[in-house]
Amino acid sequence: MDPVRLLMKQHREVEALFRKVEKTEDADERKALMGQIKQSLELHTLLEEEIFYPALRSLDSKKAEEMVLEAYEEHHVVKLVLAELPRVDPKDERFEAKMTVLKELIEHHVEEEEQDKGGLFKLAKKLGKDNLEALGDRMAAEAERRQGGRRAA
Ligand SMILES: [Fe+2]
Ligand SMILES: [Fe+2]
Repeated sequence: MDPVRLLMKQHREVEALFRKVEKTEDADERKALMGQIKQSLELHTLLEEEIFYPALRSLDSKKAEEMVLEAYEEHHVVKLVLAELPRVDPKDERFEAKMTVLKELIEHHVEEEEQDKGGLFKLAKKLGKDNLEALGDRMAAEAERRQGGRRAA
């Protein structure tokens, strides 16, 4: 499996969740969507941090190294916001502002991963087709394992 396709699909899924949360003022729906955003991003950042980014570091490229380190820091900021979500009141007047700030953080980060010129995903091509394929398979298996575990719980 192509790992970049898998990660980009997850990016689009999270964007769709943000579009949904922007459209509703219903507290229960907002809460459910926040939960989905949190779960989706937790899985996505885990796949990147534990499998995809370490592979990029193995390229031994200064540029990749710098970008990966920055990506970890951006994930860290996203996670600080995610950790707050279970305590966020969907009826609070700050709800929309909070969602907008989180969405913008993620948009910026996704841009750095996906951009055509020098994006992290472009750099990943240097790993070669076979390595990428194996990486994608590992990520898909890990995603399945985690999601399967969640469904069973
Ligand atoms: Fe990322
Ligand atoms: Fe990503």
